[in-house]
Amino acid sequence: MNAAGGLRRGLLIAAVAWLAGCSTDSEAPESAAVDGEWAYTVRCSYCHDVPNGIGAAVTPGVLAAYSTVGQLDRYLRVAMPHEAPGSLPDNEYDAILRYLIESRAMVPGGGDAWPLPDSTRLGSAAGTSDG
Ligand code: HEC
Repeated sequence: MNAAGGLRRGLLIAAVAWLAGCSTDSEAPESAAVDGEWAYTVRCSYCHDVPNGIGAAVTPGVLAAYSTVGQLDRYLRVAMPHEAPGSLPDNEYDAILRYLIESRAMVPGGGDAWPLPDSTRLGSAAGTSDG
């Protein structure tokens, strides 16, 4: 009986198993499409869409205050999520921005024309009285 040999063999098996595990543990590439509604639900709504949440509801009027797609985009990337600003992958910020603009109807037909130029105005029937 050779205890050292058995230990070495055990370590080798563990190492091979670890390497095999790594090769199958592939993360989605940053460019992969992300569902914006899913990302918003996971990343944002636990503060913004719950009773007594620390963030206010993200209404069309709130979004319209950012004036343009580019300004809203920069705000979200710089300031949200509030406890870890800038921490999301690029594709998630992009998908969340698109989801908010589509779901709140901030730009007519905006989702179809994605990506929108930064200068695109954010409008909302709910947030303005005279359009
Ligand atoms: C940890 C809680 C938290 C999370 C997560 C979070 N927010 Fe916020 N959010 C806040 C707070 C608090 C404010 C107010 C910040 C301030 O006034 O400085 C805010 C402000 C905002 C505003 C501006 C509201 C206004 O009146 O101008 C928007 C838009 C917004 N959040 C969107 C998002 C989006 C999109 C996400 C997901 C990527 C997100 N938030 C994630 C807490 C959160």
